[in-house]
Amino acid sequence: MKHFISTSDLDRKTVEQLLKLAVRYYDTAKDKEFLDEMDGKMLAALFYEPSTRTRLSTETAMHRLGGTVINAVGEENSSLRKGETLQDTAKVMSHYADVIAIRHKKEGSAREFAEGSSVPVINCGDGPGDHPTQAMLDALTIYRKFGRLDNLTVALIGDLKNSRTQHALLTLLRNFKGCKARLASPDSLKLQDEYKFEGIEYAECKDMKECVDGADIIYSSRIQVERFDDMDEYNRLKDYFVFTRKFLDDHCEGKILMAPLPRIDEILPECDDWEGSVYFSELANGVAVRMAIISKLCT
Ligand code: NCD
Repeated sequence: MKHFISTSDLDRKTVEQLLKLAVRYYDTAKDKEFLDEMDGKMLAALFYEPSTRTRLSTETAMHRLGGTVINAVGEENSSLRKGETLQDTAKVMSHYADVIAIRHKKEGSAREFAEGSSVPVINCGDGPGDHPTQAMLDALTIYRKFGRLDNLTVALIGDLKNSRTQHALLTLLRNFKGCKARLASPDSLKLQDEYKFEGIEYAECKDMKECVDGADIIYSSRIQVERFDDMDEYNRLKDYFVFTRKFLDDHCEGKILMAPLPRIDEILPECDDWEGSVYFSELANGVAVRMAIISKLCT
């Protein structure tokens, strides 16, 4: 694997190999320890779109592997703002770093960047496009809870049109057998056909209650404010769904509730200590999986 650009590049074997490696790194991530595998290597973390978890868990992953990190945050502080192309930035960064993580608002930006790079590139989110490291993180969370990625039913709730994490998870699950996706979103934010894969059985649901029925996993995404041109439309849709503790107690026994975070108002804080809520408790998976990806690309 030269770069880590798209979830659709990941076949079942690659996902399984990366999960195996991530499981090996899990204790190091959880116990906040350091290894020396990347001693003498440097990661450049270029985050031109807002990020908290993805950037800091990627940087943490490199540090835990024993490497070092340089970073650039915000397009307004970079030469992209002066008109430099992504490919030229990549050519320059390749002289500094051994691996580059990039997040940028334009769909396809990571691939464009990789064309100019002579070192491995990791896509940490290309606008409304893809988010393959998050898909691997979510796969690890599911794998650690269920011991498998086959024969699972996932209830996807929220902004199914714009949520790259939900798109990426479906793209990853298309490699596995017997998966079902139950969908609930406002009418204008429905899942597009390009994410309806052969091999996954889809059901459109009228509301949250119908959506979680029969699901193993509930995966919530906030309404993606940054993808809206019309703020009135966003304000009309932003409270489309809200997870309350009562809803979880009444309808979700035995299921897990996942969210890539940030959550805004759609998962109330009273849900955080519900037994199936894993969005905070499984955060070490993000570091472990990114350790696995960096290690696979660099060794
Ligand atoms: C997600 C993203 O940036 O797409 N966040 C993340 O990477 N953990 C989800 C989101 O912002 O809603």
